[in-house]
Amino acid sequence: MSEIRVGLLGLGTIGIGVARILIEQQELISRRLGKQVRLVTAADRILGRDFDLDLISSVRLTDDANDVVTADDVDLVIELIGGYEPARSLVMTAIEHGKHVVTANKALIAKHGEEIFLLAAEKGVAIGFEAAVGGGIPCLKALREGLSANAIESVYGILNGTCNFILTKMENEGADYADVLREAQELGYAEADPTFDVEGIDTAHKLSILAAMAFGSRIRFDEVFTEGISRISAADIEAVSELGYRIKLLGIAKPHGDGSDMKRIEMRVHPTLVPLSAQIAQVSDSYNAVQICGDFVEQTIYIGRGAGERPTASAVIADVMDIARVAPDGVAHLAPPMGFVESERSELETLPVADIECEYYLRFMVQDKPGVIAAITSVLSDHRISLEALSQKERHATQAVPIVMLTHETAEGNLQAAISRITSLTNVEEDVLILRKENFGA
Ligand code: HSE
Repeated sequence: MSEIRVGLLGLGTIGIGVARILIEQQELISRRLGKQVRLVTAADRILGRDFDLDLISSVRLTDDANDVVTADDVDLVIELIGGYEPARSLVMTAIEHGKHVVTANKALIAKHGEEIFLLAAEKGVAIGFEAAVGGGIPCLKALREGLSANAIESVYGILNGTCNFILTKMENEGADYADVLREAQELGYAEADPTFDVEGIDTAHKLSILAAMAFGSRIRFDEVFTEGISRISAADIEAVSELGYRIKLLGIAKPHGDGSDMKRIEMRVHPTLVPLSAQIAQVSDSYNAVQICGDFVEQTIYIGRGAGERPTASAVIADVMDIARVAPDGVAHLAPPMGFVESERSELETLPVADIECEYYLRFMVQDKPGVIAAITSVLSDHRISLEALSQKERHATQAVPIVMLTHETAEGNLQAAISRITSLTNVEEDVLILRKENFGA
């Protein structure tokens, strides 16, 4: 039986998962592939760790990643170091040396994907990055191949396992934000720098990849409007729940304009109110969900584990197998990495944040004095912002109390202008929480 020879960069959580899946599923993989996947070398910064895995002890280990990306006996490099550098340089060197590359690194693809794809095409090698989005869910394959006959109308995603885990535990157990974040780190879900998770950056990396693949545009990570979950309190979760909603950190991408007239793409990441009845609201813990609407297929949803050792390794090895099936001579027959022929990918602009149209949840902290609500609603009325719900739950003679409102749809720029007028009113504090709402047909 022929084989594909693999070099591995990084023996952290996912690297160990990859080694483990290659051992545990060796026979299954060979039966499906008709070839063997053989790990020949692995690089890790800390050598001499006890990996407790026979496979690791039987391969050539090095602490110099350059040895792996330039090795003559490696056909395919799996990059699991994460982050922008040195991952970018190593991947580029691997491609220069004619190696195929599989990576789980969403930051790398979001930021440097375009130059990586160009070099890979020039060198005639394949790039796989299924594990970069949605962990173990084959959502990129679904979008790139399964839905390829559809014009995509929207993409919604719960794309960060850590945030979903935190929001779920805060809601179900009243757990403390910091404690749950620590637990997510221990389970191997969180990024090396967990602010990437909780501030929405990881979700924005993934959304920028999904959006470019959905709409045939270039990856524009830097243009994604991004807000995280760090300002959400247990009180907000409760107030939202009383209104019939749940808070999820969503990545949202939509095209603007019709068909070939499509001019701009809306891309945003923020904590979002979703109706309890929506399927995506039921996706909890570290599970991810990607909901894609195509013009022929209509709504589809893909749900699964979005982080962790085994699910991510599952996606990495599926990519290795796809490439191994057609390597060494047939990689041109693989679907293009971003789902469109390179010359057909366009330079669509990103919709300015001020033009995004949404319904909003607003939480103001105000002194409990006569006329405060009237003053706030008068400003909203000036800006033609209509209200769906309004409540004040607490009373307090001396301390600020929360007032919660749901608005009808308005443009973000208009909403922000109204908020800045409201926060300059007497008796209204500057600390306003603005959450956006999506109705999912409810
Ligand atoms: N930190 C990421 C998450 C890992 O929590 O989803 C998977 O990309």
